[in-house]
Order: sequence, then structure tokens, then C-alpha cells
Amino acid sequence: MTEHVIIERRGAVQSIRMNRPDKKNALTRAMYAAMAKALRDGDTDPDIRCNVLLGVPGAFSAGNDLMDFLTIAQGGEGGTEVAEFLMALATAQKPLIAGADGVAVGIGTTVHFHCDLTFATPRTVFHTPFVDLGLVPEAGSSLIAPRLMGRQAAFALLALCEGMPADKAEATGLIHRVVPEDELEAEVFKAAEALAAKPPEALKLARDLMLGDRHALIERIEEESAHFRARLRSDEARNAFMAFMSRKKG
Ligand code: COA
Repeated sequence: MTEHVIIERRGAVQSIRMNRPDKKNALTRAMYAAMAKALRDGDTDPDIRCNVLLGVPGAFSAGNDLMDFLTIAQGGEGGTEVAEFLMALATAQKPLIAGADGVAVGIGTTVHFHCDLTFATPRTVFHTPFVDLGLVPEAGSSLIAPRLMGRQAAFALLALCEGMPADKAEATGLIHRVVPEDELEAEVFKAAEALAAKPPEALKLARDLMLGDRHALIERIEEESAHFRARLRSDEARNAFMAFMSRKKG
């Protein structure tokens, strides 16, 4: 589908690795599609009991590809891949464990609101510059973040667009634990394999009980997405994307 996402199996664990290091794992439409498909496959394949989401050293993800955003801002087609990925995340039936190192921007941060456990390295900073880009928070983050971390920490992250270092992300509950860089993937797989070895029906019930009714979350994702799509074509957003694209030329 795309060489920028690598899907592998390790026993009953499915790993989904974003692999576009030259662009700090900025996500293209094909990458969203590949990740959505992997999550859907994970839902229906009884041999998969846990999913793992990884990046590359130094880059979990720089968020949505800003060239793709600029294309939409200039009147081009957006596609449905992002929406499909967000729905696959919000409705995933199996645990999702993430390992984040370094850059974690936009969806590279908000994806963790849908992970059951995230491990991150000390140099990781979580950053959601949506408002600075003329956009609005997505992936249900406007609903989950204030509930999880309180109004003010959520506002600092999602509206002030302040980077959140890994230790603060652990303290606010955005992630599970900070681990050294050279232990990151071992810790991720240790947790994933432990979950994959548990009685699957009991694990599913426990997870579903903790997640509760997901209707409100899905409604919020759709509400955010409607604003997001409109904002992509705003002058504020177009100017921000063009400023990013031309920043190295000056
Ligand atoms: N979309 C498209 N390309 C991106 C990108 C993105 N979101 N993030 C990084 N890149 C590209 C850069 O343009 C650069 O490409 P080039 O080498 O062809 O010029 C390459 O990835 C490396 O990025 P660079 O900016 O040189 O690395 P850095 O370590 O100095 O900074 C970031 C990393 C992530 C802080 C910075 O690239 C950035 O702010 N990116 C935009 C993040 C963003 O706003 N995402 C959207 C969220 S909704």
C-alpha cells in the first residue's frame, strides 16, 4: 500500500510502524489508509490480540503532511483517509500500545488519547499547534483532554499550543511511562505481549468497560472534523501552511 508504513506480526502482536524518517514521519493520505486498514484487520483477525504503534528514532510523527493540507487549502481534494483512521482508532476493539521518541506533533500527540498505554522517551515533546495553524483540535482531543488532564493543562496543550515534555505528559496522564531511548521498543513489546497472553474475552470486557459508551466521542470527532475541514480552506490556515513551506527559503 505504501512503503512508509510497515506492518509486522510478532506472535499475536501486530506492529504498525510509521516509517518516513526524511519527513519526520509526516503522515500522508496513503499512510493514514495503511494504518486504518491495519487497525481494522486487527479488529477482525482473532490471531491479533494487541496492536503496537511505533515511529522511528527521533520521530514518532510530525503530524499531518502540511503539503497535503496546503493542497486542500488551495482548493484541492482532501480524501477520506484521515476520517477513516480516526474512526478506526476510536472504535478499535483490541488494545493499542504506542512507543514515542522525539517529535510528536498534531495527530502524533492526539493519537495517544486513543492508546491504552504509551511509553515515551525523555526527549519526546508532545505538541498540538492546531490553533497556530488556523485549525481546531481533532481526534476527539477537545473532549478527552480536559477530562483527562483538567481544563488548564488541556488549554495549554490545545489552545496555547505549548509543547508538553514527556515527564509532564506522564504526570497529566497523556502517557503511561517515560523510559530510556534504548529501552523504548522492548518496553512496548513487553506490555503488548503481556496483554496478548491474557484471556482475550476478559481483556476485551475490561477495556470496553473502561472506555464506556463511545458515541459521544464519535460525535465529537465528527463535529471537530467539520470545523477542521472548513478551517483548512481559511485564510488563517492557508497563510500558516505557506509560511511553513517557505520557511527555509528565506
Ligand atoms: N508536513 C510536511 N513536511 C514536514 C512536516 C509536515 N508536517 N514536518 C516536517 N516535515 C519535513 C520538513 O519540511 C523537512 O523536509 P525537507 O528536509 O525536505 O526540508 C523534513 O521534514 C525535516 O523537518 P525539519 O523541519 O527540517 O526538522 P526539525 O527537526 O527542524 O523540525 C518539526 C521538526 C516537526 C518541529 C518541524 O518540521 C515542524 O514544525 N513540522 C510541522 C509540524 C506540524 O505543524 N504538523 C501539523 C500538525 S496538525
